[in-house]
Parts: sequence; C-alpha cells; structure tokens
Amino acid sequence: MPNGQKFVEVSDLVRVFATPEGEVRALDGLSFDVRHGEFLSIVGPSGCGKSTLAMLIAGLMRPSSGLVALGGRTVDRPQTNLGIVFQNAVLLAWRSALDNVLLQVEMRGLDARQYRHRAMDLLASVGLEGFERRLPHELSGGMKQRVAICRALIHDPPLLLMDEPFGALDALSRDQMTLDIQGICARGGKTVLFITHSITEAVFLSGRVIVMTPRPGRIDGIFDVELPRPRRLAVREDPAFAGYTRQIRDRFMAHGVLRDIEDPSPLAPLGGFPSPLASPRGCGSPLAPPSPPGGEGAAGA
Ligand SMILES: Nc1ncnc2c1ncn2[C@@H]1O[C@H](COP(=O)(O)OP(=O)(O)O)[C@@H](O)[C@H]1O
Ligand SMILES: [Mg+2]
Repeated sequence: MPNGQKFVEVSDLVRVFATPEGEVRALDGLSFDVRHGEFLSIVGPSGCGKSTLAMLIAGLMRPSSGLVALGGRTVDRPQTNLGIVFQNAVLLAWRSALDNVLLQVEMRGLDARQYRHRAMDLLASVGLEGFERRLPHELSGGMKQRVAICRALIHDPPLLLMDEPFGALDALSRDQMTLDIQGICARGGKTVLFITHSITEAVFLSGRVIVMTPRPGRIDGIFDVELPRPRRLAVREDPAFAGYTRQIRDRFMAHGVLRDIEDPSPLAPLGGFPSPLASPRGCGSPLAPPSPPGGEGAAGA
C-alpha cells in the first residue's frame, strides 16, 4: 500500500460500558484516519478512553456503535496483522528474552526456527545483544519493554499499536526508548498509533498528534508536527518544538486537565523550620496553614 493512503479508519466510534453504577461512556463519536507509513500519537488524560480505543482497533473489543477498518476491512474480530505493546511488558517468567519474542510466532502456528535470526536481529537492534538467553527477572524494566517491542514486531506487521509503552520506565530510559522507537519504525516503514499522556513524547515522535478531551473521549484537536526527521533529543529545546507542546498544553488547560499557577509572583516563604515542640504529637503538617472550620481550606474538586 503506498504511503499516504488511509490505513486505519475510525468513524464515529462509540463505546459505552455497563457498570453497577450505570453506563460509562468511554468514547463518544471518535473519527480519524491513520495513513499508511504515518506515526500518529493520541494524547489524553487518564480515563479518556485511549486503551479502549486500542482494544477496539485491535479487534479485542466490539464498539457500541461506529466502525474501525484496517486496510479497508471492517474490524470484527481480533486482528493478527498488527503488533501491540502495552504499558507492562507481560513476559513469561520461565522463558528467555529470545523465547518470549518467539512466543508470538509460535502462537500463530508458524515455525519458530525460521524466525530465530530475525528475533536475534531485532533484539540486537534495541541493544539487547548478549541478553537473548536472560530470563525476565534478570532484565531491567526498560529491557523487558524492549523485548515486548521485539515480540510485537517479530511477524513484521505493517501496523504497530502502542498503548503507553514507556509508562512504567524512568525518564532516561524513556528518552532512549523514544529514540529507538523512532529508528525502528522509520527503518521498518511501519504505520504507528502511539498512545501516551506525554506531550513531549507525542510531539517528538509524531507527524500528527490527536488530543483527546477528558471522558467521554472525543477529539479535541489534531496538530501537524512539521519538524525534520530524524529528530535528535535536542530538538526538544527548539522554539518550534516548544510551540507545538504549548499548543497541546493549552488544550489541556482549556479543559481543566492542567491548571497553571494563577499568581506568578514568588511563592511566600513558609516561615522557616517549625519547632518540633510546636506540634506535640508530630502530626501537624508544617506546610499546610490551619484552615478555618468549614472554610476555604477544603480541597476543591
Ligand atoms: N471493562 C470496563 N468496564 C467498565 N468500565 C470500563 C472498562 N474499561 C474501561 N472502562 C472505563 O472507561 C473509561 C476509559 O478507560 P480507558 O480506555 O482505560 O482510559 P485511558 O486508557 O485513557 O486511561 C474509564 O472511565 C474506565 O474506567
Ligand atoms: Mg490506558
């Protein structure tokens, strides 16, 4: 399929969950496309329906109404033609890194021996050369997530779906993974749908960023990121980059997902160190001024 054609089509997608407390409307009329070869990110606050969207696209859940199509075909069952990476790597504890990658081909009834080379190459491409025989408990969180990415790519799917894949990693590992994902996806010519709540990661990786509203999830805005590729980490200090992150942040501000401080004057001093004698049972917080009974000290919604 030539680049630029619609690959993923989401139209008027609605998903409602029945719960004991009543209906939860997770997604409310979502429509967008992902073009072949595109790297598209979806950014939104927790609970806005991002994971629900991923499940619907993968065919692991049915929509309440609306449609998802992949390559022109309506998704009505679990899809095998894509790779998925979730927030937690979920590796089998008793299988080596290599065998965890090969699990994917075994589950598809393919001959794992034919994929060994590719699995080794993939592991090397994410810096895991020499770790192929290690068990998951011998790997760091970032390494496990790399194994999970290789597992998602072993059958060379055209579409990669990533649902907060770096969510459990420390900041430096996230930076490295962001760079690695950029390289892997560009080399493999993948179409990528990347779900995150990191504005910076979304802008860094994407050609387009979709911003979602708080629940029920709707599209709040779509931003084209026109920065040359490949992108180095230093692009994040570029004024153009800051312009994109600001535009997206402003959308979250508009919905109250983010609230900046109101008074930019220096914060009032806290009044020095409290005497331990001032709080006899040691339970009063020196940081919180006493609130008048029934007064404004109560946390607002
Ligand atoms: N299986 C389910 N049953 C009931 N409610 C659900 C279910 N899955 C998700 N939800 C609700 O739908 C909303 C969206 O969830 P989710 O897609 O996980 O959001 P996100 O990934 O953006 O944090 C949340 O309010 C969540 O509690
Ligand atoms: Mg989620």
